[in-house]
Amino acid sequence: MEHPVLMIPGPTNLSEDVIKALCQPMVGHTSQEFYNDFKEAHALTAKLFGSNPERTVLFSGSGTFGMEALFSSFAEPGERMLSIVNGYFGDRFAEIGSIYGLKVKSMKFEPGQEVDVDALKNELSRESYSFVTLTHVDTSTGTMNDLKSVGEVVKQYNAFFVVDMVSSLGCAEFNFDDGPVDYAFSASQKCVGAPPGAIMVALSKELIEKRSTVKGRSYYFDLKRWLPVMKDPSIYLSTPNISVLRALRVALNEVFEEGLENKIKRHQELGRMAYEFVVERGWKPLSKRPSPSVIAFDLGKPIADEVQKRVYKQGILIAKGLGSMSSRVIRVGYMGWTTKELLYNTLKKIEDAFNGL
Ligand SMILES: Cc1ncc(COP(=O)(O)O)c(C=O)c1O
Repeated sequence: MEHPVLMIPGPTNLSEDVIKALCQPMVGHTSQEFYNDFKEAHALTAKLFGSNPERTVLFSGSGTFGMEALFSSFAEPGERMLSIVNGYFGDRFAEIGSIYGLKVKSMKFEPGQEVDVDALKNELSRESYSFVTLTHVDTSTGTMNDLKSVGEVVKQYNAFFVVDMVSSLGCAEFNFDDGPVDYAFSASQKCVGAPPGAIMVALSKELIEKRSTVKGRSYYFDLKRWLPVMKDPSIYLSTPNISVLRALRVALNEVFEEGLENKIKRHQELGRMAYEFVVERGWKPLSKRPSPSVIAFDLGKPIADEVQKRVYKQGILIAKGLGSMSSRVIRVGYMGWTTKELLYNTLKKIEDAFNGL
């Protein structure tokens, strides 16, 4: 097999032009060429979030850096954080908060179950929290949480609303400046179709103001240090992942050439198609609603490993479940430039493998 097609929930397939940009000869990190490319990638990142470029940070790292950067830039040990958990990545957020010395409570829902807004209201009325964290699309279950209803409650109780958009930014409707989110982050290897290695963060004015009472707790992860670099990328803070950031610039241009609205619509259609296909075959989606970037479903028997191997032999990489049900669960990602044909072909190959076992 020459190269497998990636139908995992990130990293995703790259377009020819993104690959070309990734393979350019190296340029200096403070050179004019990189300066221009970075400026453009940064402006497009802000446009993707619907945020002000002055409060948008783009730097080298993976999605998890977005979690670390929140605590090291804006939190003091001892502050309270409520982590809403209905999948694998909510738990990770809680763990990282504890490492930074926050008093963390996890509000747990069954994986894939939507957030009970009344229970959240109840919790926030009993205890005061500085931060409430939520995963927009949890990649382990393919569940898309409703930012609006959760965010309204969080703001009612004056907590900072923090959202992990690693598997949603670029695939789902969102506008940072319309509220209610104070800190949103995403990563390059998912919905926008770039290679792994770039992290994107949008910040509210109020959160930036909070920094005046907070001591930064990291060198690299301190977003206060990165903000001036966004204005002038010739300032040296730490050598950026030049190739990835240049490839991201091309990928973001492709997003806006397709049109963000068109892209979001395409992902919604892909999500519906995958959901219907899975339900029609009698498999059980872990989420009650389609998500625009990933579907996770229970095959009903512990054959996920064998199904994955058989599909891989035909040139397509799919993912198994994360966590306790991994032996029965398959996950298919449809991020980046995925077409209906490619998704359908992938699902058919899963069906063939399933039927052959
Ligand atoms: C929702 C979500 N959050 C955070 C992460 C962590 O990102 P990374 O693996 O790039 O550190 C992932 C990775 O898949 C994810 O899906």
